[in-house]
Amino acid sequence: MKGMDIISIRDFSRQQLEFILEKSREMEENLSRNHNLLSGYVLATLFFEPSTRTRLSFESAMNQLGGKVISVAEPKATSTQKGETLVDTVRTVEQYSNVIVIRHPKEGSARLAAEAVSIPVINAGDGANQHPTQTLLDLYTMKKACGKIDGLKIAMVGDLKYGRTIHSLATALSHYKVELVFVSPEELRVPDEIKQHLKKTKTPFREIINIEDTGKVDILYVTRIQAERFPDPAEYEKVKGTYRIHPEMLELFGNVKIMHPLPRVDEISPELDSFPNAIYFAQARNGIPVRMAILALVLGVIQ
Ligand code: NCD
Repeated sequence: MKGMDIISIRDFSRQQLEFILEKSREMEENLSRNHNLLSGYVLATLFFEPSTRTRLSFESAMNQLGGKVISVAEPKATSTQKGETLVDTVRTVEQYSNVIVIRHPKEGSARLAAEAVSIPVINAGDGANQHPTQTLLDLYTMKKACGKIDGLKIAMVGDLKYGRTIHSLATALSHYKVELVFVSPEELRVPDEIKQHLKKTKTPFREIINIEDTGKVDILYVTRIQAERFPDPAEYEKVKGTYRIHPEMLELFGNVKIMHPLPRVDEISPELDSFPNAIYFAQARNGIPVRMAILALVLGVIQ
């Protein structure tokens, strides 16, 4: 994977996904032995949208592997503010680093950046489109928690229209023998393009509105309503707070593991945090070995 960009989960075969998951597992096993793996390399993180987990876990992964990090976390402090184009910005950052992780509100921006430079570019979220490294850590978490991905019943809850983690994850899961349940308000259903892809790959799915109709599932993947993506704030007001998972509801789903890419607003009650099946913070922790593996692979330091 040396030199490869990571832009969309659509670019990956099942075999490639499994390969990255296996390398992530090896990274996790050897956490204390890889201190110098990326020494001499510089990661640039360019975040034009807010982030806690994605930016910090990439930076922590790089630091723990002995690499160095330069970072833009506040785009107002860069020359973008003076009118510089994204292409010029990444071409400049390429002079200072060996790999770029970028998050940007515009769909397609990561692809545009990747085409402009010759070092690897990793998409950390481009608008409502894709968030491939989140998906890799989500798959890693499912495999770790359930021992497998094939055979799982997975419900995705919340903002399935604007949630990029959903778009990437649903696409990746089409490589596996899973059953999907999409739980969302009418207005926030999964985009047609993704449903067509699932039909083409013969991945069974149902769409429902009432979470009570979900039935028994192995994973409940809960997401935040993406307030910042609604063209009309009044539309957000109509759907905000639609779902709120609380302990009394759990028996509806059977022996379910609860995941969430985080940040949460009010869709999972904090009372659930102490439940062993609430694995969203372990999920966030898994970002470290997975992003270590991704960085080492695209830099060609592991094969
Ligand atoms: C997600 C994102 O940025 O798409 N966060 C993350 O990277 N863990 C989810 C969200 O913002 O709701």
